[in-house]
Amino acid sequence: MIRKASADDLDAVMAIEQSSFSRPWSRKSFEAELFKASGNFLVYEADGEVAGYIIFWTVLDEAEIADVAVAEQFKRQQIAERLINRCIEMNQDTRVIYLEVGIDNEPAVRLYKKLGFNVNGEIKDYYGTGKNALRMSLELCRK
Ligand SMILES: CC(C)(COP(=O)(O)OP(=O)(O)OC[C@H]1O[C@@H](n2cnc3c(N)ncnc32)[C@H](O)[C@@H]1OP(=O)(O)O)[C@@H](O)C(=O)NCCC(=O)NCCS
Repeated sequence: MIRKASADDLDAVMAIEQSSFSRPWSRKSFEAELFKASGNFLVYEADGEVAGYIIFWTVLDEAEIADVAVAEQFKRQQIAERLINRCIEMNQDTRVIYLEVGIDNEPAVRLYKKLGFNVNGEIKDYYGTGKNALRMSLELCRK
C-alpha cells in the first residue's frame, strides 16, 4: 500500500535512508517534507512495515524526484517501480519529471531507464569530488 508519510514513519525512513546513502538526509529534512505544500512524501507499507519511500517536488510544470529508497529486505519486489509510477500518475499535468542519480548506481539507473527516463547529461562532482551524477528525465504528454 502506498500512502502519505506521517511523523510516525520517520524512524523507519531514517533507518532505510542511513543504510542506503553515504550522505543521508537528516531527520530534520524529512520532517520538513511532511509539511511542504509543493512536496509529496509517500511511503510504501508492506505487512505493516515501511518498506520504502519517495519524495518528489512539483513546481509549475516540472517535478523532481528528490529521494527514493527501499529497505534491503524488500528490494527487487517492484516497490521502487510502484512508488515512481505513483509519482508519474500524480504528475500527469506536469511537462517533465527529472532527477539526479550517481553514475555508478546501476540498480537506480536501470530502474529509471526501465520506466522510460532518458539520460540528459552528466554532472561532474555532483556527489563530491570524482562522484559524478547523471541527470535523467521523463517527458510527459500534457493533456
Ligand atoms: C534503486 C532502488 C530504489 C531500487 O528499488 P527496488 O524496489 O529494489 O527496485 P524494483 O524492484 O522496483 O526494480 C525495478 C527495476 O529496477 C532495476 N533494478 C532494481 N534493482 C536492481 C539491481 N540491483 N540490479 C539491476 N537492476 C535493478 C530492474 O530493471 C528492475 O526491474 P526487474 O525487476 O524487472 O529487473 C534500491 O536498490 C535502493 O533503495 N537503492 C539505494 C538507494 C538509491 O540508490 N536510491 C536511488 C537514488 S537516485
